[in-house]
Amino acid sequence: MKLNESIRKALNDQVVKEFYSAYLYRSMSSDMKAAGYKGYAHWLMKQYEEEMEHGEKIIAYIEDRDGTVDFGQIDAVTSRFDCPLKVAEAALAHEQYVSESIRTIFRAAREEGDIETEVFLQWFITEQIEEESSSTDVKNGFEAAGDCKGLRFMFDAQLGNR
Ligand SMILES: [Fe+2]
Ligand SMILES: [Fe+2]
Repeated sequence: MKLNESIRKALNDQVVKEFYSAYLYRSMSSDMKAAGYKGYAHWLMKQYEEEMEHGEKIIAYIEDRDGTVDFGQIDAVTSRFDCPLKVAEAALAHEQYVSESIRTIFRAAREEGDIETEVFLQWFITEQIEEESSSTDVKNGFEAAGDCKGLRFMFDAQLGNR
């Protein structure tokens, strides 16, 4: 069944947000590499790859529902970081924003009686629980390490195992 236009538009906007998320994580990875946090840079690259997959998943769904995807503007990433805790805080805030964005589309799908989109978005809702949880763990780790360079680098090494 063809997607309703307002739902198609909302999903399309989410595609752009997922690619923006990828772009954001990519830049954060570069920042952390430059600051010497190789483990966190690796962790953020994995995150970048996941966000690209999220974008692809939604594109495939729109196409399967006979919709066309508009490849709109992806915003520039303007913030630069040299402190891993600041990255972790920004990443968590961004994931919380994305969770709310997905909830909003889910509610719209429910209102439209679009059961298929509800089911499709369930994966994303579960994924966001994991995303927020892992982002919180990273934030807590760097927070606990505080100003101690040794502890920060120990935690960084742990993140490199992802
Ligand atoms: Fe995502
Ligand atoms: Fe994410």
